[in-house]
Amino acid sequence: MARFPLLSSFFCLISIFAASALAFNVSTITFDEGYSPLFGDGNLVPSSDGKSVRLLLDRFTGSGFISSDYYNHGLFSASIKLPSDYTAGIVVAFYTSNGDMFEKTHDELDFEFLGNIRGKKWRLQTNMYGNGSINRGREERYTLWFDPSQEFHRYTILWTQTKIIFYVDEVPIREMVRNEAMGSDYPSKPMSLYATIWDGSSWATAGGRYKVAYKYAPFVSEFHNLTLHGCPVDPIQFLQRFSDVDVCQAKTAELDAADFAVITPERRAAMRKFRQQYMTYSYCYDTVRYPVPPPECVLIPSEQKRFKETGRVIKFSGAAHRRRHRPSKRSRTRSGSNNIINAGNTSAM
Ligand SMILES: *[C@@H]1O[C@H](CO)[C@@H](O)[C@H](O)[C@H]1NC(C)=O
Ligand SMILES: *[C@@H]1O[C@H](CO)[C@@H](O)[C@H](O)[C@H]1NC(C)=O
Ligand SMILES: *[C@@H]1O[C@H](CO)[C@@H](O)[C@H](O)[C@H]1NC(C)=O
Ligand SMILES: *[C@@H]1O[C@H](CO)[C@@H](O)[C@H](O)[C@H]1NC(C)=O
Repeated sequence: MARFPLLSSFFCLISIFAASALAFNVSTITFDEGYSPLFGDGNLVPSSDGKSVRLLLDRFTGSGFISSDYYNHGLFSASIKLPSDYTAGIVVAFYTSNGDMFEKTHDELDFEFLGNIRGKKWRLQTNMYGNGSINRGREERYTLWFDPSQEFHRYTILWTQTKIIFYVDEVPIREMVRNEAMGSDYPSKPMSLYATIWDGSSWATAGGRYKVAYKYAPFVSEFHNLTLHGCPVDPIQFLQRFSDVDVCQAKTAELDAADFAVITPERRAAMRKFRQQYMTYSYCYDTVRYPVPPPECVLIPSEQKRFKETGRVIKFSGAAHRRRHRPSKRSRTRSGSNNIINAGNTSAM
């Protein structure tokens, strides 16, 4: 069982992740400068200086906010702290979408945090839809190398003309490079940024087995260091001018050239390491659902070995399944509070 996390892998990750931990040079804005309340009235609580905002869920309502503009490509980022303790059934979502404007043909890029029972970790899901491709979900799920309810961490969605990158702090955890075959499944219409907290009792935790327990309400999530970088546009006007001159050319070029748009070798190593250790589901490896993986999938054999044909990570149970690891000098075990779940390290289970 993964009760006794291995410090060796912990240190290993810290050093690999620290190597790429140059903070992005992005300016933050206040709540009023870039966002508007979406729902939840009194459960949406901006700080008096406007630099942070709390989203609460209680038995009456969740809450959410939305960027005041639509963006044609952009970098969307916030430092987020999730509710702690008993959080089963809760969903905190940080995502871009244009579902309000294009009901049947919407685009979407998601971070979804799925709460858990006490003592079990939050899980993170990322996803993408393009032009209403709702029957072609592209979900990936992960645990994290830290407890997201204990401190702020930065979550970032980068969406350019050519690629999408999801970052946790400065670690790219997922990259999708656009290709012809994806067609309109690649988001291409201007999107807004959304942040919400809501009751996902019917599915969020163990497929709906554990519901939101309102005796622990209110559940509080906090958003700080709000960042919006992109080309603000009116989506209708924008689409009408689609074939004309690109009004966003300068901004687009700026995004493409930015530091965070480049996955350096160090960042790629950190991404590999993260996915090797913390990814628990990938649609790319779910051959039951997709006998032919969607065109953007890059199948990495060493990674694929960890997954069953359902795309879920194989839970190893004994020596027969033991994988080979590079020995580490720091190798030692310790019981205790730093509950890094070692999704990838079978010897720890
Ligand atoms: C996995 O655990 C073993 C100890 O059982 C350790 O020696 C090894 O370094 C760990 N591997 C990784 C990748 O963390
Ligand atoms: C950060 O960005 C600002 C504005 O774009 C620029 O003036 C500044 O030089 C940058 N700082 C670093 C360390 O790159
Ligand atoms: C906001 O970002 C700055 C610069 O990266 C960082 O030092 C600070 O800790 C962040 N604040 C929170 C609450 O995450
Ligand atoms: C998006 O879907 C709509 C409806 O299915 C279709 O008419 C349209 O051509 C698609 N857009 C693109 C860019 O493929």
